[in-house]
Amino acid sequence: MKKDLLILGIETSCDETAAAITKNGREIIANVVASQIESHKRFGGVVPEIASRHHVEQITIVIEAALKQANVTMSEIDAIAVTEGPGLVGALLIGVNAAKALAFAHQKPLVPVHHIAGHIYANRLVTELQFPLLALVVSGGHTELVYMKEHGHFEVIGETRDDAAGEAYDKVARVLNMPYPGGPHIDRLAHEGSPVIDLPRPWLEGSYDFSFSGLKSAVINTVHNAEQRGEAIAPEDLAASFQASVVDVLVKKTVDAVAEYGVKQVLVAGGVAANKGLRSALEEAFSGLDVELVIPPLSFCTDNAAMIAAAGSVMFEKGVRADLSLNAIPGLEIEIFN
Ligand code: KG4
Ligand code: ZN
Repeated sequence: MKKDLLILGIETSCDETAAAITKNGREIIANVVASQIESHKRFGGVVPEIASRHHVEQITIVIEAALKQANVTMSEIDAIAVTEGPGLVGALLIGVNAAKALAFAHQKPLVPVHHIAGHIYANRLVTELQFPLLALVVSGGHTELVYMKEHGHFEVIGETRDDAAGEAYDKVARVLNMPYPGGPHIDRLAHEGSPVIDLPRPWLEGSYDFSFSGLKSAVINTVHNAEQRGEAIAPEDLAASFQASVVDVLVKKTVDAVAEYGVKQVLVAGGVAANKGLRSALEEAFSGLDVELVIPPLSFCTDNAAMIAAAGSVMFEKGVRADLSLNAIPGLEIEIFN
């Protein structure tokens, strides 16, 4: 009988210190996330130095908690998977160094994982992947359509030319005086309003690329113009109009790419995948099509280490390894064909 593959995943690329253990890449036996959101809220965004300091304080506690939750010891772990990038360099380094120290001390293989590959593989904790597939990656730092021919193959067919979808959400939320991260607040508000304000839809015809900065500016201008004229603008209608524009573009591009690439599955990944408007619009768009739509539960959409362990498990089986010279790469590209 084949032994179960136990992977310890470590994630510290932004503002969550996380450790998790997966069994055979699909089953979570421990999942611990220490969020720093409360510490960054008063600054309206993530402060890199504060993030690093929190990671240093939390990393050992979080890893020990994951081992305890899974009721396993380090000797039973087959490999350590860690986010090597992209992300904040000082934050990434805490996870990378913790992973290296553990790999050295316990003589375990070290597997470097791309953060976005992790977001995509969060879907494998829900269902088995069917190739070829298309992943719509929508996070705070990335908006990409990624084509996967097989495990470990990531081909970017479209990406944002400026702001990521999550970034646009956070900036619009700031203008509407909402706390960081703004995405969930705009999402909630959008459901109380109607999309009656005319905002641009950045189609970028003939390309699968995205652009959200013009839309973001249009929202900001709408607010400022109304203020100057002394007119009241209903924040819920603005939120609904902004969300409708973002969702329309994301859904249309995904539907078009699915038709062109003839994929079997569509995965949604990243923090903005938690968006209720996006989830229901995608469900509606794909309901009549012969393609399986997979959207992870909310807790797997935002940063966690179970997704890093899930991706690391596949990479481990493909023979991907790092030695103790592994470094954090803040601008790491996903275009890898392992
Ligand atoms: O994937 P993630 O946790 O971190 C990155 O890797 O960037 O994504 C965080 C982003 C933030 O911009 C946050 O505002 C956004 O995801 N987000 C949402 C929602 N929940 C989180 N955006 C829109 N609607 C939501 N419900
Ligand atoms: Zn992320």
